[in-house]
Amino acid sequence: MVKIGILGLGTVGTGTVQILRDPVGRHHLLQSIEIQRVGVKSIDKPRAVDLPSELVTTDLDSIVSDPDIDIIVELMGGIEPARSLMLKAIAHGKHIVTANKAVIAKFGDEIFTAANQAGVYVMLEAAVGGGIPVIQPLKQSLGVNRIQRITGIINGTTNYILTRMTVEGGEFADILADAQKLGYAEADPTADVDGLDAGDKIAILASLAFGGRIKRDDVYCEGIRKISATDIAYADKLNFVIKLLAIAERVESGGVSVRVHPTFVPKDRPLATVNGVYNAILVEGEPLGQVMLFGPGAGAGATASAVVSDILAIVGVMQTNSSHEDAVNSPNTSLHPLLSC
Ligand code: HSE
Repeated sequence: MVKIGILGLGTVGTGTVQILRDPVGRHHLLQSIEIQRVGVKSIDKPRAVDLPSELVTTDLDSIVSDPDIDIIVELMGGIEPARSLMLKAIAHGKHIVTANKAVIAKFGDEIFTAANQAGVYVMLEAAVGGGIPVIQPLKQSLGVNRIQRITGIINGTTNYILTRMTVEGGEFADILADAQKLGYAEADPTADVDGLDAGDKIAILASLAFGGRIKRDDVYCEGIRKISATDIAYADKLNFVIKLLAIAERVESGGVSVRVHPTFVPKDRPLATVNGVYNAILVEGEPLGQVMLFGPGAGAGATASAVVSDILAIVGVMQTNSSHEDAVNSPNTSLHPLLSC
């Protein structure tokens, strides 16, 4: 069995536990995974999943240093203590699966360098686009191409608000307030509506697509607070919709432009038809042309699907390596971080 420790039992953590505890009819390797510990902030909080009490702890350090655990699944969000716990886990030789776009966008260099030195994987499919497979395709099949541009609707909250403003003709503040009541927007919506969440995500995609490390501070971010019902109405008259686009593209000077801002999108373009909390990522590359990846960009089940796919990828490599070690009787065969960024 491969043993995992999960840090965080919020929406995505709960969705992840639910998939792992209900493996029938899913990928066969799910049955080789055992949840060893789950780290939470508060033991007493009511939970949607019923876990044996001995599995759950508030002592997160004990999870990242537990010698029985192979993979740490970091689903806490925020910069600290997530960053420090990931680094400690890596120092203890554990692979990492994370949905934490903020940490990866800002501290990816530090984390990947540590992981490469330790010979462990850092997997982050859930950090961008929720359930849409985009990280692995960019690293593998799409990565064969010379990527010219990535254009994404990669924040579900703002796409939900803009869609409702377009359909209902309402003002930003009223629809945001309603979205908060309905649970589609966070109580503190800053990261979403100011384009910062999309900025984290496009920094990650750009780093993968263009083969360097795009500094998060270099990404221009403008959100949707200033969009009015009048802007939306004028856009409509001119046959456009307004979308919050995250764009990363090569520019003539040889550099890369990475930015997030509201954009007029012609109504006949595929991205114009992406509505509600859905995300879409249009990848343009040579010689492939255009590929659009579309799907649920947030939510427990969708994001947990991406988390578990990363766990499975590591389990698959661990099993291949261990059968190879058996075959050649070489206990020194080590993992290479081929899957890491
Ligand atoms: N707050 C994010 C969004 C969640 O609205 O897209 C998924 O990263």
